Amino acid sequence: MDWVKIIHLLCVMGWMTSIFAVPRALIYWKREYAKLGAFGPLGDLTVRLYRFSAALAVIALITGLVLAQFWAWAPWIHVKLALVALLVVHYVWTGKMVLRAKRGAFRESDLFLRIFNEISVVGVIAVLWVVVVKPF
Ligand code: HEM
Repeated sequence: MDWVKIIHLLCVMGWMTSIFAVPRALIYWKREYAKLGAFGPLGDLTVRLYRFSAALAVIALITGLVLAQFWAWAPWIHVKLALVALLVVHYVWTGKMVLRAKRGAFRESDLFLRIFNEISVVGVIAVLWVVVVKPF
């Protein structure tokens, strides 16, 4: 089970790179697009990062469910799963903004994207607290 947990943590780290970086990268992509008037290298990097970490997210979730089975679905796992579900919603929302940006549509203000970004940090801290402390 140790290797399942090692892969779980590795893929969680990979997924978090996008959760923490892509909303902010959209701010700079918007500026690049305003300058170039077209899809540029920063946009390309952001799309590739999002796509790569989407695959890691799937592995993180699958290994998490395997670990949950090993832990006989202890009560703290249900709370963790609910918090992770919110992270998934945040991530899918980010994906929608990335798809729109690929078409040159940047609707969200810089302030919105910064706050949106920070919300995920609070969510991840909550997940880490539940899994490390296992309060119930
Ligand atoms: C389907 C979603 C997930 C499930 C069911 C799940 C379940 C689990 C389980 C059962 C463990 C083993 C706990 C232990 O050995 O102490 C674990 C470890 C861990 N998980 Fe997840 N996990 C999920 C997603 C995530 C996410 C999204 C994060 C981070 C944001 C995360 C962070 C961690 C960490 C840091 C550990 C190591 C805890 C420790 O060793 O004390 N997990 N996970």
